Amino acid sequence: MQRILVTRQLTEPAMALLRSGAAEGKYILDEWASSGPMPRPELLRRAAGASGLLITLSDKINGELLDAAGPQLKVVSTVSVGYDHVGVHECTARGVQVGNTPDVLTDATADLTVSLLLSTARLLPTAAACVKNGRWGPWHINWMCGADISGSTVGIVGLGRIGAAVARRLAGFNIGKLLYSGRNPAAQALVNHATVRFVNDDGSISSSPIPQHTPLEQLLRESDFVIATCALTDDTKLMFNKERFALMKPTATFVNSARGGIVDQDALYEALTTGRIARAGLDVTSPEPLPPKHPLLTLDNCLVLPHIGSATFNTRNAMCMRAVQNLYAGIAGQKVPFGVQA
Ligand code: GLV
Ligand code: GLV
Repeated sequence: MQRILVTRQLTEPAMALLRSGAAEGKYILDEWASSGPMPRPELLRRAAGASGLLITLSDKINGELLDAAGPQLKVVSTVSVGYDHVGVHECTARGVQVGNTPDVLTDATADLTVSLLLSTARLLPTAAACVKNGRWGPWHINWMCGADISGSTVGIVGLGRIGAAVARRLAGFNIGKLLYSGRNPAAQALVNHATVRFVNDDGSISSSPIPQHTPLEQLLRESDFVIATCALTDDTKLMFNKERFALMKPTATFVNSARGGIVDQDALYEALTTGRIARAGLDVTSPEPLPPKHPLLTLDNCLVLPHIGSATFNTRNAMCMRAVQNLYAGIAGQKVPFGVQA
Protein backbone atom coordinates (compact mmCIF):
# COMPACT_ATOMS: atom_id res chain seq x y z
CA MET A 1 0.00 0.00 0.00
CA GLN A 2 1.16 3.55 -0.68
CA ARG A 3 2.51 5.54 2.24
CA ILE A 4 2.17 9.27 2.78
CA LEU A 5 4.24 11.38 5.13
CA VAL A 6 2.74 14.49 6.77
CA THR A 7 5.61 16.49 8.23
CA ARG A 8 3.67 18.26 10.97
CA GLN A 9 0.24 18.46 12.55
CA LEU A 10 -2.14 20.47 10.37
CA THR A 11 -5.61 21.81 11.22
CA GLU A 12 -8.02 19.35 12.87
CA PRO A 13 -10.31 18.95 9.83
CA ALA A 14 -7.32 18.23 7.59
CA MET A 15 -5.87 15.69 10.02
CA ALA A 16 -9.31 14.08 10.40
CA LEU A 17 -9.60 13.75 6.63
CA LEU A 18 -6.12 12.27 6.34
CA ARG A 19 -6.78 9.80 9.15
CA SER A 20 -10.14 8.69 7.75
CA GLY A 21 -8.47 7.91 4.41
CA ALA A 22 -5.91 5.79 6.26
CA ALA A 23 -8.67 4.08 8.30
CA GLU A 24 -10.43 3.19 5.01
CA GLY A 25 -7.23 1.54 3.87
CA LYS A 26 -6.51 4.01 1.05
CA TYR A 27 -2.92 4.56 2.18
CA ILE A 28 -0.66 4.26 5.18
CA LEU A 29 -0.41 7.56 7.02
CA ASP A 30 2.83 8.57 8.70
CA GLU A 31 2.36 11.82 10.59
CA TRP A 32 4.83 13.82 12.64
CA ALA A 33 3.08 14.21 15.98
CA SER A 34 4.14 17.80 16.65
CA SER A 35 2.95 21.11 15.26
CA GLY A 36 6.63 22.07 15.00
CA PRO A 37 8.92 21.09 12.13
CA MET A 38 10.31 17.61 11.67
CA PRO A 39 14.08 17.48 12.28
CA ARG A 40 15.93 16.96 9.00
CA PRO A 41 17.38 13.49 9.80
CA GLU A 42 13.90 12.31 10.77
CA LEU A 43 12.46 13.76 7.56
CA LEU A 44 15.12 12.05 5.42
CA ARG A 45 14.51 8.75 7.16
CA ARG A 46 10.74 8.80 7.04
CA ALA A 47 10.47 10.12 3.49
CA ALA A 48 12.06 6.87 2.32
CA GLY A 49 9.48 4.80 0.48
CA ALA A 50 6.72 7.44 0.63
CA SER A 51 4.51 8.10 -2.39
CA GLY A 52 3.42 11.53 -1.19
CA LEU A 53 4.89 14.20 1.07
CA LEU A 54 2.72 16.85 2.68
CA ILE A 55 5.10 19.56 3.78
CA THR A 56 5.39 23.18 4.93
CA LEU A 57 7.77 26.09 4.36
CA SER A 58 10.38 24.77 6.77
CA ASP A 59 10.90 21.50 4.87
CA LYS A 60 13.53 21.88 2.17
CA ILE A 61 12.91 19.57 -0.77
CA ASN A 62 16.16 19.12 -2.69
CA GLY A 63 18.12 16.37 -4.40
CA GLU A 64 19.22 14.94 -1.06
CA LEU A 65 15.63 14.58 0.10
CA LEU A 66 14.42 13.20 -3.24
CA ASP A 67 17.24 10.63 -3.22
CA ALA A 68 16.29 9.65 0.32
CA ALA A 69 12.62 9.36 -0.65
CA GLY A 70 13.20 7.07 -3.61
CA PRO A 71 11.73 6.62 -7.10
CA GLN A 72 8.18 5.74 -5.97
CA LEU A 73 7.59 9.36 -4.82
CA LYS A 74 4.78 10.92 -6.86
CA VAL A 75 3.89 14.21 -5.24
CA VAL A 76 5.19 16.93 -2.96
CA SER A 77 2.33 19.03 -1.61
CA THR A 78 3.22 22.19 0.31
CA VAL A 79 0.88 24.09 2.65
CA SER A 80 1.92 27.47 1.21
CA VAL A 81 1.58 29.50 -1.93
CA GLY A 82 5.34 30.12 -2.07
CA TYR A 83 7.47 27.20 -3.19
CA ASP A 84 11.01 28.54 -3.06
CA HIS A 85 11.78 25.78 -0.52
CA VAL A 86 11.00 23.13 -3.15
CA GLY A 87 13.42 22.23 -5.94
CA VAL A 88 10.71 22.17 -8.58
CA HIS A 89 13.17 21.45 -11.43
CA GLU A 90 14.53 18.44 -9.58
CA CYS A 91 11.03 17.20 -8.77
CA THR A 92 9.86 17.59 -12.38
CA ALA A 93 12.96 15.85 -13.71
CA ARG A 94 12.06 12.86 -11.54
CA GLY A 95 8.40 12.89 -12.45
CA VAL A 96 7.34 14.18 -9.03
CA GLN A 97 4.43 16.65 -9.13
CA VAL A 98 4.52 19.73 -6.90
CA GLY A 99 1.36 21.31 -5.50
CA ASN A 100 0.83 24.58 -3.61
CA THR A 101 -2.12 26.48 -2.10
CA PRO A 102 -2.85 29.66 -4.08
CA ASP A 103 -6.02 31.80 -3.88
CA VAL A 104 -7.27 30.67 -0.47
CA LEU A 105 -4.69 32.84 1.32
CA THR A 106 -4.82 35.86 -0.97
CA ASP A 107 -7.27 37.93 1.09
CA ALA A 108 -5.75 37.15 4.48
CA THR A 109 -2.25 37.91 3.22
CA ALA A 110 -3.40 41.14 1.55
CA ASP A 111 -5.13 42.17 4.80
CA LEU A 112 -1.93 41.58 6.73
CA THR A 113 0.16 43.44 4.16
CA VAL A 114 -2.08 46.50 4.39
CA SER A 115 -2.10 46.27 8.22
CA LEU A 116 1.69 46.17 8.15
CA LEU A 117 1.81 49.16 5.82
CA LEU A 118 -0.54 51.22 8.00
CA SER A 119 1.15 50.18 11.25
CA THR A 120 4.55 51.05 9.84
CA ALA A 121 3.48 54.33 8.25
CA ARG A 122 1.70 55.48 11.43
CA LEU A 123 4.23 54.05 13.93
CA LEU A 124 1.61 52.00 15.80
CA PRO A 125 3.90 49.64 17.75
CA THR A 126 6.17 52.49 18.89
CA ALA A 127 3.19 54.64 19.84
CA ALA A 128 1.49 51.81 21.74
CA ALA A 129 4.74 51.00 23.56
CA CYS A 130 5.02 54.64 24.71
CA VAL A 131 1.60 54.43 26.32
CA LYS A 132 2.59 51.29 28.22
CA ASN A 133 6.06 52.52 29.20
CA GLY A 134 5.09 55.88 30.67
CA ARG A 135 6.57 57.77 27.72
CA TRP A 136 3.23 59.35 26.67
CA GLY A 137 4.26 62.95 27.22
CA PRO A 138 2.46 66.25 26.69
CA TRP A 139 1.02 66.84 23.19
CA HIS A 140 3.75 67.82 20.77
CA ILE A 141 3.23 69.01 17.22
CA ASN A 142 5.61 66.50 15.62
CA TRP A 143 5.35 63.65 18.08
CA MET A 144 4.60 60.23 16.50
CA CYS A 145 3.98 61.76 13.10
CA GLY A 146 4.05 59.31 10.24
CA ALA A 147 3.23 59.31 6.54
CA ASP A 148 -0.05 59.88 4.68
CA ILE A 149 -1.47 57.13 2.53
CA SER A 150 -3.98 59.35 0.74
CA GLY A 151 -2.57 60.97 -2.35
CA SER A 152 0.59 58.85 -2.16
CA THR A 153 2.27 56.89 -4.91
CA VAL A 154 2.28 53.18 -4.18
CA GLY A 155 4.65 50.82 -5.98
CA ILE A 156 3.91 47.11 -5.94
CA VAL A 157 6.82 44.86 -6.83
CA GLY A 158 5.20 41.70 -8.16
CA LEU A 159 1.56 42.25 -9.10
CA GLY A 160 0.38 38.69 -8.56
CA ARG A 161 -2.85 37.70 -6.88
CA ILE A 162 -1.69 39.02 -3.52
CA GLY A 163 -0.27 42.24 -4.94
CA ALA A 164 -3.50 42.94 -6.82
CA ALA A 165 -5.55 42.28 -3.68
CA VAL A 166 -3.32 44.73 -1.78
CA ALA A 167 -3.85 47.36 -4.48
CA ARG A 168 -7.60 46.79 -4.38
CA ARG A 169 -7.65 47.45 -0.65
CA LEU A 170 -5.46 50.55 -0.95
CA ALA A 171 -7.87 51.97 -3.53
CA GLY A 172 -10.17 52.62 -0.58
CA PHE A 173 -7.49 54.77 1.04
CA ASN A 174 -7.59 57.28 -1.79
CA ILE A 175 -4.07 56.72 -3.06
CA GLY A 176 -2.85 59.00 -5.84
CA LYS A 177 -0.94 56.71 -8.15
CA LEU A 178 -0.31 52.99 -8.45
CA LEU A 179 2.81 51.59 -10.10
CA TYR A 180 3.80 47.97 -10.45
CA SER A 181 6.75 46.04 -11.75
CA GLY A 182 7.25 42.37 -12.30
CA ARG A 183 7.48 39.57 -14.76
CA ASN A 184 3.79 39.61 -15.62
CA PRO A 185 3.04 42.89 -17.45
CA ALA A 186 0.21 41.33 -19.45
CA ALA A 187 -1.84 40.18 -16.50
CA GLN A 188 -4.89 42.25 -17.37
CA ALA A 189 -7.13 40.32 -15.00
CA LEU A 190 -4.87 41.30 -12.12
CA VAL A 191 -4.86 44.93 -13.20
CA ASN A 192 -8.67 44.86 -13.36
CA HIS A 193 -8.85 43.22 -9.96
CA ALA A 194 -6.59 45.91 -8.54
CA THR A 195 -8.88 48.69 -9.77
CA VAL A 196 -12.00 49.75 -7.89
CA ARG A 197 -14.88 51.92 -9.15
CA PHE A 198 -16.69 54.13 -6.68
CA VAL A 199 -19.39 56.77 -6.53
CA ASN A 200 -18.28 60.33 -5.72
CA ASP A 201 -20.18 62.74 -3.46
CA ASP A 202 -21.80 64.32 -6.54
CA GLY A 203 -22.99 60.95 -7.83
CA SER A 204 -20.40 60.65 -10.59
CA ILE A 205 -18.39 57.45 -10.87
CA SER A 206 -14.61 57.33 -10.78
CA SER A 207 -12.03 54.64 -10.62
CA SER A 208 -9.08 54.15 -8.33
CA PRO A 209 -5.72 54.67 -10.07
CA ILE A 210 -5.16 52.08 -12.80
CA PRO A 211 -1.93 50.18 -12.08
CA GLN A 212 0.83 51.31 -14.43
CA HIS A 213 3.51 48.85 -15.43
CA THR A 214 6.75 50.62 -14.58
CA PRO A 215 10.41 49.61 -14.73
CA LEU A 216 11.63 48.72 -11.23
CA GLU A 217 14.16 51.55 -10.98
CA GLN A 218 11.54 54.16 -11.85
CA LEU A 219 9.04 52.58 -9.45
CA LEU A 220 11.59 52.81 -6.64
CA ARG A 221 12.37 56.45 -7.43
CA GLU A 222 8.74 57.55 -7.51
CA SER A 223 6.99 55.53 -4.82
CA ASP A 224 6.15 56.71 -1.31
CA PHE A 225 5.31 53.12 -0.41
CA VAL A 226 7.21 50.22 -1.96
CA ILE A 227 5.42 46.94 -1.32
CA ALA A 228 7.05 43.62 -2.22
CA THR A 229 4.63 40.79 -2.99
CA CYS A 230 6.78 38.89 -5.48
CA ALA A 231 7.92 35.28 -5.32
CA LEU A 232 11.50 34.47 -4.29
CA THR A 233 13.28 33.26 -7.43
CA ASP A 234 16.81 33.48 -8.86
CA ASP A 235 15.72 36.82 -10.37
CA THR A 236 14.36 38.36 -7.17
CA LYS A 237 16.94 37.02 -4.70
CA LEU A 238 18.51 39.98 -2.82
CA MET A 239 16.89 42.39 -5.32
CA PHE A 240 16.42 44.99 -2.57
CA ASN A 241 20.11 45.82 -2.19
CA LYS A 242 22.16 48.94 -1.45
CA GLU A 243 21.76 50.34 -4.96
CA ARG A 244 17.99 49.82 -4.96
CA PHE A 245 17.47 51.38 -1.53
CA ALA A 246 19.59 54.31 -2.72
CA LEU A 247 17.05 54.97 -5.47
CA MET A 248 14.16 55.22 -3.01
CA LYS A 249 12.87 58.45 -1.49
CA PRO A 250 14.23 59.37 1.96
CA THR A 251 10.57 59.55 3.02
CA ALA A 252 9.73 56.11 1.61
CA THR A 253 8.22 53.20 3.51
CA PHE A 254 9.29 49.71 2.44
CA VAL A 255 6.92 46.82 3.11
CA ASN A 256 7.78 43.16 2.53
CA SER A 257 5.25 40.36 2.92
CA ALA A 258 6.87 38.12 0.29
CA ARG A 259 10.10 36.42 1.35
CA GLY A 260 13.05 37.60 3.42
CA GLY A 261 15.42 36.32 0.75
CA ILE A 262 14.55 39.17 -1.63
CA VAL A 263 16.17 41.69 0.75
CA ASP A 264 19.82 42.34 1.56
CA GLN A 265 19.16 42.93 5.25
CA ASP A 266 22.53 44.61 5.88
CA ALA A 267 21.69 47.10 3.16
CA LEU A 268 18.23 47.61 4.64
CA TYR A 269 19.70 48.22 8.08
CA GLU A 270 22.07 50.79 6.61
CA ALA A 271 19.27 52.47 4.65
CA LEU A 272 17.15 52.73 7.80
CA THR A 273 19.93 54.04 10.04
CA THR A 274 21.33 56.57 7.58
CA GLY A 275 17.96 57.98 6.59
CA ARG A 276 18.21 56.62 3.03
CA ILE A 277 14.61 55.46 3.55
CA ALA A 278 12.24 56.40 6.36
CA ARG A 279 10.92 53.08 7.65
CA ALA A 280 10.28 49.43 6.89
CA GLY A 281 7.64 46.85 7.77
CA LEU A 282 8.61 43.21 7.32
CA ASP A 283 6.47 40.12 7.73
CA VAL A 284 9.29 37.97 6.41
CA THR A 285 13.00 37.85 7.19
CA SER A 286 16.06 35.77 6.56
CA PRO A 287 16.46 33.62 8.56
CA GLU A 288 13.15 32.86 10.21
CA PRO A 289 12.84 33.11 13.12
CA LEU A 290 15.04 36.20 13.16
CA PRO A 291 17.37 36.00 16.20
CA PRO A 292 16.11 38.36 18.98
CA LYS A 293 19.43 40.23 18.97
CA HIS A 294 19.32 41.00 15.23
CA PRO A 295 20.27 44.64 14.43
CA LEU A 296 16.96 45.27 12.59
CA LEU A 297 15.13 44.62 15.86
CA THR A 298 16.95 47.50 17.58
CA LEU A 299 15.38 50.06 15.24
CA ASP A 300 12.28 52.12 16.02
CA ASN A 301 11.66 52.64 12.31
CA CYS A 302 11.52 48.93 11.50
CA LEU A 303 8.49 46.82 12.36
CA VAL A 304 9.07 43.08 12.11
CA LEU A 305 6.27 40.51 12.26
CA PRO A 306 6.80 36.74 12.54
CA HIS A 307 5.56 35.67 9.06
CA ILE A 308 1.82 35.78 9.82
CA GLY A 309 0.49 36.76 6.38
CA SER A 310 -1.87 33.81 6.07
CA ALA A 311 -2.43 33.33 9.80
CA THR A 312 -6.19 33.21 10.25
CA PHE A 313 -7.98 30.03 11.34
CA ASN A 314 -10.12 29.80 8.21
CA THR A 315 -7.30 30.56 5.82
CA ARG A 316 -4.89 28.08 7.37
CA ASN A 317 -7.56 25.40 7.27
CA ALA A 318 -8.38 26.16 3.64
CA MET A 319 -4.67 25.91 2.82
CA CYS A 320 -4.41 22.54 4.58
CA MET A 321 -7.49 21.19 2.78
CA ARG A 322 -6.12 22.34 -0.57
CA ALA A 323 -2.80 20.68 0.20
CA VAL A 324 -4.59 17.40 1.02
CA GLN A 325 -6.49 17.69 -2.30
CA ASN A 326 -3.17 18.06 -4.14
CA LEU A 327 -1.69 15.13 -2.24
CA TYR A 328 -4.65 12.86 -3.03
CA ALA A 329 -4.56 13.67 -6.73
CA GLY A 330 -0.81 13.12 -6.79
CA ILE A 331 -0.83 9.69 -5.16
CA ALA A 332 -3.72 8.65 -7.43
CA GLY A 333 -1.53 9.48 -10.42
CA GLN A 334 -3.79 12.36 -11.48
CA LYS A 335 -2.74 15.88 -12.33
CA VAL A 336 -2.67 17.88 -9.08
CA PRO A 337 -5.37 20.61 -9.15
CA PHE A 338 -2.99 23.32 -7.92
CA GLY A 339 0.30 22.38 -9.45
CA VAL A 340 3.45 24.42 -10.01
CA GLN A 341 5.87 24.07 -12.88
CA ALA A 342 9.57 24.75 -12.92
C1 GLV B 1 3.49 31.88 3.00
O1 GLV B 1 4.45 32.58 3.07
C2 GLV B 1 3.13 31.10 1.86
O2 GLV B 1 3.91 31.02 0.90
O3 GLV B 1 2.05 30.51 1.89
C1 GLV C 1 1.61 34.44 -5.24
O1 GLV C 1 2.68 34.84 -4.82
C2 GLV C 1 0.42 35.24 -5.35
O2 GLV C 1 0.52 36.46 -5.52
O3 GLV C 1 -0.64 34.60 -5.25
